Amino acid sequence: MQQVAAFILLRNILHRIIFALKSVNMRKTVSDLLLIDNKQLNKDNFLLKLQSKTPLSDIFPGQFVNVEIKKATEIFLRRPFSIMDVDYENRTISLLVKILGRGSKVFTEYIPGELVSVIFPLGKPFTLPLPNDRILLIGGGSGVAPMLFLAKICGLKPEQVHMILGARSATDHVDISEYEGLANLYYATEDGSKGEKGFVTHHPLFTHQLESFDKIYTCGPDPMMKAVAKEAYKRKLFCEVSLENTMACGFGVCLCCVEDTKHGNLCVCTEGPVFNINDLKWQI
Ligand SMILES: Cc1cc2nc3c(=O)[nH]c(=O)nc-3n(C[C@H](O)[C@H](O)[C@H](O)COP(=O)(O)OP(=O)(O)OC[C@H]3O[C@@H](n4cnc5c(N)ncnc54)[C@H](O)[C@@H]3O)c2cc1C
Ligand code: FES
Repeated sequence: MQQVAAFILLRNILHRIIFALKSVNMRKTVSDLLLIDNKQLNKDNFLLKLQSKTPLSDIFPGQFVNVEIKKATEIFLRRPFSIMDVDYENRTISLLVKILGRGSKVFTEYIPGELVSVIFPLGKPFTLPLPNDRILLIGGGSGVAPMLFLAKICGLKPEQVHMILGARSATDHVDISEYEGLANLYYATEDGSKGEKGFVTHHPLFTHQLESFDKIYTCGPDPMMKAVAKEAYKRKLFCEVSLENTMACGFGVCLCCVEDTKHGNLCVCTEGPVFNINDLKWQI
């Protein structure tokens, strides 16, 4: 019995490795990208721009990169970051990196001219809206990165795109004035220092107008996404969330990012990070 179980386990692991390698060959690349800009936006947030030698493949909002932090020699596992912007002409991708621990801190200390090993693009993106949709994007902390990318490439008129950005305090918000022409921007801060006082879910747009949106997208801390999902679920609204489960390989082999969903245990790195709330087992 134990031998059969061990055989099945081994077979499943082999399948996963083969699947992962195949999909890596299909479109993901491991590349040394050149850091061409590193700008500190506020105390903890940095905007890093990386350039590829070769043309970039298509990249969509919600997809992420897995970065090797070579300069922190004690860190073996890559660190995932959402892609915030892509410039195909200049072959660059931009990342919004918030310092959380040692890996992200060392990454923000890289200087332009250095090479960074990156696996990308990883994961499944957000569902793009239909031409007449009115959409609500809700970003918290570094979760604003994929929301801004979605606002930029969704193809909707600015009046169809509404975005609530949440942070603890005004100084935690990064300057996103260059996105002003792409969407209606609203702010919420826990201390009331910018925009509405409280969480994003306290914003009047959320409390009073949620049903006016065809699609809701969110990325940020788990409690924020769960609060958004709960209200969207109650009203049977389309809602996608981008999970930030802890990851290692980033392409479906190590199983450390697994989420217990209505379809069984799924790797967030390959089956997500974007999930429709109806597929999750959150208590909503
Ligand atoms: C798909 C995906 C996209 C992401 N996009 C971005 C992004 O665009 N910008 C950004 O700044 N960060 C993003 N993150 C989070 C980022 O990967 C982590 O901040 C980073 O890996 C932390 O590494 P570290 O070595 O600095 O911290 P560690 O030393 O690994 O961790 C420091 C502390 O933070 C906790 N922690 C680590 N990772 C996470 C996490 N994912 N969520 C909550 N707590 C965590 C640890 O438990 C520990 O307490 C993303 C994560 C995922 C999975
Ligand atoms: S991070 Fe390895 S399986 Fe998802």
